[in-house]
Amino acid sequence: MSHPFTVSLVCWHDGEPLLKSIREAVFIREQGVPAELEWDGLDESCRHALALSHQGDAIGCGRMLANGHIGRIAVLPQWRKKKVGTAIMEALLEYARAHDYKQVGVDAQTYALPFYHSFDFVERGKVFMDAGLPHIKMDLRL
Ligand SMILES: CC(C)(COP(=O)(O)OP(=O)(O)OC[C@H]1O[C@@H](n2cnc3c(N)ncnc32)[C@H](O)[C@@H]1OP(=O)(O)O)[C@@H](O)C(=O)NCCC(=O)NCCS
Repeated sequence: MSHPFTVSLVCWHDGEPLLKSIREAVFIREQGVPAELEWDGLDESCRHALALSHQGDAIGCGRMLANGHIGRIAVLPQWRKKKVGTAIMEALLEYARAHDYKQVGVDAQTYALPFYHSFDFVERGKVFMDAGLPHIKMDLRL
């Protein structure tokens, strides 16, 4: 089935304004994550996924660190439940597989556990707080 959006992999240098606009809307304004935690200085070293609507608007994003840690997956509210997040995760997992990663990990917000279970991520350890929100570590063997 074709989607009304596309997902591509970009570097921070090319995607910064669009990636920032999504993360500001979702993490900083919607979820109340402090800006100094959101902009952690790691973006330059990450591979980023960017979802664009067919109109060219930025609607979702995610990133993977060189150590295989996937994070900052965000979809604008009006685009949720349309598989944009799934396509972002699939693009990052495809990148990880193509680069011979054996395992990837996430710090999942607990409300989003079913999202990560849909890719077969498995919980590791106990729930912890980060940026005021409950999280749990999850791993996926590739
Ligand atoms: C989590 C998030 C990225 C999911 O994106 P999405 O595009 O809506 O997800 P998808 O449409 O691809 O959903 C795939 C599956 O994940 C699960 N899922 C998605 N959103 C969910 C939610 N809010 N609660 C529970 N399960 C959810 C469902 O199983 C869903 O399948 P279904 O639609 O057949 O029920 C999105 O809700 C978001 O941006 N949230 C705010 C930012 C955030 O919390 N990011 C995650 C940080 S860990």
